[in-house]
Amino acid sequence: MTNIIMAPLEGVTDRTFRSCYYDHFSGLSASVTPFLPIPDRVKRVSPATLRMTALPGETRVPEIPQLLVSESSAFITAARALEAAGFTELNWNLGCPSRGVVRKGKGAGLLPDTEGILNILDKAFSCLDIKISMKIRLGMDNREESFRLLPELKGFPLAGLTLHPRLGKQMYSGSVDLEGFDKALELYGKPICYNGDIRTVRDYADLKKKFPGQECWMIGRGLMADPLLPRKILEYDETGRAEDGEGHPLGNNNFRIFIEDLLERMKRQFSRETALLNYLKGIIVYTFNTTPMPADYRHRLVRLKNLEEWELFKNEIYGYLDSQ
Ligand SMILES: Cc1cc2nc3c(=O)[nH]c(=O)nc-3n(C[C@H](O)[C@H](O)[C@H](O)COP(=O)(O)O)c2cc1C
Repeated sequence: MTNIIMAPLEGVTDRTFRSCYYDHFSGLSASVTPFLPIPDRVKRVSPATLRMTALPGETRVPEIPQLLVSESSAFITAARALEAAGFTELNWNLGCPSRGVVRKGKGAGLLPDTEGILNILDKAFSCLDIKISMKIRLGMDNREESFRLLPELKGFPLAGLTLHPRLGKQMYSGSVDLEGFDKALELYGKPICYNGDIRTVRDYADLKKKFPGQECWMIGRGLMADPLLPRKILEYDETGRAEDGEGHPLGNNNFRIFIEDLLERMKRQFSRETALLNYLKGIIVYTFNTTPMPADYRHRLVRLKNLEEWELFKNEIYGYLDSQ
């Protein structure tokens, strides 16, 4: 049984994006939301923050709200607010490597502090009913951080654990550490959801060969680059055929229709055209990162100044792809 989960991408996979995605594509088992804006020592979580995640039953794909907190009181306050609103699971982010987050000892910045993490979990599990899952990296500065933590995590009734096998200090560069993932599986002794650099069915097939027992896969940037990827992966599981080499994902008409719909929905969200255009460019750049595209198109994309220019550019690029 293969489970594919949409990874949280802050600034990209917000509620509007996710619901648009579910309306156009299938194949996902769940989504983890980007971290909710919940400060330390918070006393109350606003209804607007709670509405950033769809409640169980509100959407076809279950959504799991994510917390980025480093002290137990904020954890418990936020978890209670989620519980009261009807959520059944939350995800704790121990992977975010951004400098501002790490400086505050949050995200990957908390990974070196094994005792601190276990303390928060002890307190959380002693008073909460909501299920708790975690998303971690191998460490902030070295793998020993997770190798120390994982045997201790075994004792907690976590609803799930996802590992992106990079270090925080790597940010998103360098390669994923598959040997580290293997070691983590051994140390944790329970299933771990794999996350990192699955961009094509071929990537998935290679990982599946290496980790044949693996059932849970979380995908972020690969899903932006090709939203049909979950479906293709499930088809690969059935047929054993990897359909790579079929051209740029934007060559697919379903993807183009999705982009149009997303743009319409996002127009209601962004009041400034520049902000909307920047969001759109961010989405398209993911497709250029994974599948080669003449360099000139990327330069022109980032220079687009308004939606009229986008329309012209889009028609040109679609024409180019159709002629390939
Ligand atoms: C722009 C961006 C925003 C991200 N935001 C979050 C976030 O809010 N929470 C989180 O746990 N991870 C976040 N991540 C990490 C991704 O969820 C994921 O772990 C990482 O991109 C590796 O998976 P991928 O190669 O499939 O994208 C973010 C990554 C990117 C590139």
